[in-house]
Amino acid sequence: MFEHWKKRRAHWERMVHKRGADILKSANMQKEKKFLQHGKVSVYSHSVRVAVLSLFLAELLRVKVNKEAMMRGALLHDYFLYDWHEKDDSHRWHGFSHARVALKNAKKDFQLGEIEQDVIQKHMFPLNLKPPKYKESALVCLADKLSALEETIRRR
Ligand SMILES: [Fe+2]
Ligand SMILES: [Fe+2]
Repeated sequence: MFEHWKKRRAHWERMVHKRGADILKSANMQKEKKFLQHGKVSVYSHSVRVAVLSLFLAELLRVKVNKEAMMRGALLHDYFLYDWHEKDDSHRWHGFSHARVALKNAKKDFQLGEIEQDVIQKHMFPLNLKPPKYKESALVCLADKLSALEETIRRR
């Protein structure tokens, strides 16, 4: 199982880097390399991880998804573009507000379809009350929580 996961992970990683190259190479996404998400993991690495894991989960659970849209939405799900660890009043509600900020920023910089938008907007369910509308959004929501858990545990 572990060997299989490693192989598939490498496969999905290649796909994310190839098909998501325009996003990953963009100036704002490059800035995310400097913002930390959980532990020592940057928002950039976290976003790549979530994209890869959501593709893997779709495969594992045999869910038919729009891979391209799910992957692009996942790459942009935390596109809020500030350091939320910095003490600032506007960052106090980060958990509740950042999905909305990420969507606003992402719409400014990229062409997004309905699925991509839903993936970004709903990834903080159930903290944000509106549930995911698409399978793609539900998988990214799950992948995000698993990655956050992994990244937080690794820090200890
Ligand atoms: Fe998030
Ligand atoms: Fe996230």
